[in-house]
Amino acid sequence: KCLLGYTRKFVKCGEKEYVMPGAFRKHAEFIYNMEVRPDDVWVITFPRSGTTWTQELVWLVENNLDFNTAKEKPLYERFPMLETTSQIPEIAYELIKANFMNLGSFQGLTAAVRNPSWEIIAEMPSPRFIKTHLPLSMLPPKLLSTARVVYVARDPRDVMVSYYYLHKMISKSLMRGTFRNFWEAFKRDLLPWTPIVAHTNEAWKQRHHPNMHFLFYEDLIKDLPKEIRRVCKFLHREYSDEQIQQLASHLSFDSLRKNKNVNNTTGQTTEGVQFVRKGEAGGWRSHFDKDMTRDADEFLISRLKGLDLVYPSFA
Ligand code: A3P
Repeated sequence: KCLLGYTRKFVKCGEKEYVMPGAFRKHAEFIYNMEVRPDDVWVITFPRSGTTWTQELVWLVENNLDFNTAKEKPLYERFPMLETTSQIPEIAYELIKANFMNLGSFQGLTAAVRNPSWEIIAEMPSPRFIKTHLPLSMLPPKLLSTARVVYVARDPRDVMVSYYYLHKMISKSLMRGTFRNFWEAFKRDLLPWTPIVAHTNEAWKQRHHPNMHFLFYEDLIKDLPKEIRRVCKFLHREYSDEQIQQLASHLSFDSLRKNKNVNNTTGQTTEGVQFVRKGEAGGWRSHFDKDMTRDADEFLISRLKGLDLVYPSFA
């Protein structure tokens, strides 16, 4: 049985309320009760935290650095996203409009996916690679005791900036909301998958679990080969220094940006925004003025109060 309760617009998850599309209600139970397999590898993140980067890393480490297949097959086929439905953008749009302000059209994504991917994933042969933005509490309770999980966290200020550009990218008509509007919606937990700190804290609390590998985007930026080695250790895979360097170079920002199997913009790029966009830690500074910086500090301090979660960039 699914233990989740619902309100009208939000899917409620334990004590927390995560913003999920109304259409998701119908499927939450299926996902919560889905079979987890011991050879599954899951990558879990809040959107725009370095998911794609980590998926490509994990997939290659688990597949003997098979660069050829990685070049032939799009990442979304090798490593599908669990909770994709054609409903998400529409409902998210309605949610924002009803609650706060008009941030523009989300129609760009609606046509992208017709079949719910959790049904496809349930039938996929092993070993499966599964991406999700759902927090741990909305996933099968046996996930961590059964499969291996990599969680990637990122400074919420950079996530927010990146999320803003993603919305610009996927909306056919440009968002009417300003950057500041978007920040307001983000900090008031009105955007899909928020609240971000609660999402990350759920995984942080499990960071010492033997099947959990918790990593920060900022650490990937700082020393990619080192983080690749840590992922290899977690997955019990061994590669030579030369192979690690080869993988690091495949995963570099410039290389992934050119890689159409990873930097998939499905023809909906607006204003030249790409899925693999800037690739910086701390880029938020050039977007936030003094007031917003103070506001973001207050937001983070209040959300982190009472938690032992420490973002390396907000220590
Ligand atoms: P920016 O928009 O800040 O550039 P996700 O895959 O979770 O949606 O995350 C997307 C973010 O990861 C984007 O951030 C993207 O540019 C960044 N990213 C993807 N590949 C990267 C790489 N090789 N190096 C650095 N950042 C990368």
